[in-house]
Amino acid sequence: MKIYVCKDYERMGRVAANYLAAQINIKPDSVLGLATGSTPVGMYKELVKKYESRDISFKDIVTFNLDEYVNLPKENINSYYTFMHENLFDKIDINPENINMPDGNAKDFDSYSKEYEKAIALKGGIDLQVLGIGNNAHIGFNEPGEYFSKETTVVDLTRSTIDANSRFFDSIDEVPNQAISMGIGTIFKSEKIILLASGKTKAEAIKNTVNGPIDPHVPASILQLHKNVLLIIDEQAASLLDKNCYETV
Ligand code: GLP
Repeated sequence: MKIYVCKDYERMGRVAANYLAAQINIKPDSVLGLATGSTPVGMYKELVKKYESRDISFKDIVTFNLDEYVNLPKENINSYYTFMHENLFDKIDINPENINMPDGNAKDFDSYSKEYEKAIALKGGIDLQVLGIGNNAHIGFNEPGEYFSKETTVVDLTRSTIDANSRFFDSIDEVPNQAISMGIGTIFKSEKIILLASGKTKAEAIKNTVNGPIDPHVPASILQLHKNVLLIIDEQAASLLDKNCYETV
C-alpha cells in the first residue's frame, strides 16, 4: 500500500485527478469505478477542468458507480445519480450508455445485483476504482461486520453512517437506512485502487486501515492485501500515521 499525503483538500483533489487523467491517457477506453461523497468533489472539479482544456476525453470511458441509496428517487437531490450527473457526467463528453450506476429502485435486488456484477465482468473488469472512506472505515457502503462482503448487494446502513450522511439531508429521518453497494469482493477485483480521505474525522479510520490487523470490523483494512492500492489523503487524515510510512506530495 502506497500513501501520498497532500497538504490540504485542494491538493488531494489535484493529485487524484492527475492519477485518473494518466489512466485515461494511457487507456482511453478505461473502465473506471467511481465514488460519491464530499471527498471526491474536488477531484471531479479538476477532471472537468482537464476535459475543458482538452487534456482528456471521456468519450470511450466506461464507468461503474460504487453504490446508491435504496428507495430514494433518482431525481432526489441526495441520490448518487444526481450527485454524479451534477459533479461530473453532465460536464464531460461521456457516452450516457457507458454510465452504470446501481439502481436503488430495482424491483428485484437479488437478480439486479447479479446483473450489475455481470455488466462489470462483460466490460473486462474495473481498471481503476476510486474510493472514499467512512468514519467507520466503510468503503462503498460496506459497513463493519463479521465478514467481508463479496458481491453487489443491499446493505443496512449503520447508525454512524446515517448520522454522518444526515448532513446532506433536511433531517436525519430522511436518510435512507439501506443502500445497494458493490461488495468488497467486487472492489477487490479492480486492477488499481485509489482511496481518498480528507480531514481529522477520517484519521482513525486511516490509521486502522493502514496499521491495524485485517479485520471485517474495519472494512478498508482488507486493502492491505491488494496488489495496487494508493492512498491519497490530506495531512489531517494522515495525522495518526507514522511519518515514515508515507510520501509527502
Ligand atoms: C458514503 C459513501 C462512501 C463515501 C463515504 C464518505 O457513505 N457511500 O462511498 O466514501 O460516504 O463520505 P464523505 O466523502 O462525504 O466523507
